Amino acid sequence: MSVYQATASAPVNIAVIKYWGKRDTKLILPTNSSLSVTLDQDHLRSTTTSRADPAFTQDTLWLNGKIDEIKAGGRLETCIREMKRLRKEIIEDKDASAPKANQVDLRSLQLSEYKVHIASYNNFPTAAGLASSASGFAALVSSLAQLYSLVPPLVSPSTLSLIARQGSGSACRSLYGGFVAWEQGVRPDGSDSLAIEVAPQAHWPEMHALICVVSDTKKGTSSTSGMQRTVETSTLLQHRIKEVVPARMAAITTAIQQRDFDTFARITMADSNSFHAVCLDTEPPIFYLNDVSRAIISVVVEYNRLSVERGEGYKAAYTYDAGPNAVIYALEKDIKEIIQLVLAYFPQTAGEFKDVLGVFGGSVQDVNVH
Ligand code: ADP
Ligand code: DP6
Ligand code: CO
Repeated sequence: MSVYQATASAPVNIAVIKYWGKRDTKLILPTNSSLSVTLDQDHLRSTTTSRADPAFTQDTLWLNGKIDEIKAGGRLETCIREMKRLRKEIIEDKDASAPKANQVDLRSLQLSEYKVHIASYNNFPTAAGLASSASGFAALVSSLAQLYSLVPPLVSPSTLSLIARQGSGSACRSLYGGFVAWEQGVRPDGSDSLAIEVAPQAHWPEMHALICVVSDTKKGTSSTSGMQRTVETSTLLQHRIKEVVPARMAAITTAIQQRDFDTFARITMADSNSFHAVCLDTEPPIFYLNDVSRAIISVVVEYNRLSVERGEGYKAAYTYDAGPNAVIYALEKDIKEIIQLVLAYFPQTAGEFKDVLGVFGGSVQDVNVH
């Protein structure tokens, strides 16, 4: 008997222009466009295995070894259903001029009728503000795509990205590497709310990201519920989405195209601050940063001030997702100095600072941190 099983991994992405707010909570359509950097797969990733079997009685997901309930009408169910629908659609496409079905692995026409068992592992803290929902849903959709033979040229990354978006908004960006924009779109069906590559990683290989794990515990307010509360109660959010983000999206895209780190850093830090400001402007307020997060901001600010004074411009850019963990973007030439600086102020042995990982083109081994 054949075994129908496939495994895929996806990396996290860390936004420099933050997505925070939905105009449609079911389809996951955002209130603003966003832009992120997809990190190297070797570091922070989700790995997901999907198996289809006629003997299975229900779709089931294990996340880090524990059953994660697939709720009716929930995001997991939507992604699984959409992937099954896509396979059916392609097999049933009888158009002779586009014999798509012939390209699908037809060993079992019924494959999409079978229930699936899915097991996923994150090699980094889950729900701690390090974008596990992004890598998680991207890996889920990718593994089902492998299982159902929904791969290029039959199915484009763009189609998979649209489905991953319905699992977690930020996941649509993890289907692409490098610098990725998620265009908010205008259509009510969400068909133009998609991720596009702004530049591949090779365009700016000197760009590195340091992940500073301040806390690996699960956040108190999930991104989903936090942003919904912000949409409902924050007046500042309206200013952010209408006036602030559109200009920043254009400016940071140009900065990336021109490899202008100084501008990239200023906008990245400004947008992280703006995002955490709208969290504070939420009723009741949401605090994702803690004392260590704020102390890291002060160190980076001072480091940049001294660098600007020497006429060398900004050298480091902090950004925080919905959690206390810092991500510092910096160029390769400065990365060792920054890691040493961070570790000098926040020694891992002091217990307040858990880990530092060099990612996106760099590796921790390079700098002897571990
Ligand atoms: P994060 O900051 O880590 O993205 P979120 O609050 O956005 O935190 O989302 C966390 C949720 O994402 C988890 O509770 C879980 O439901 C989902 N998730 C995380 N990792 C995976 C995964 N590998 N596969 C499927 N779902 C995942
Ligand atoms: C702060 O994509 O996790 O990381 O769509 O509800 O799953 P859902 O939210 P999610 O939100 C991410 C918020 C952010 C910013 C970003 O990644 O752009
Ligand atoms: Co998330």
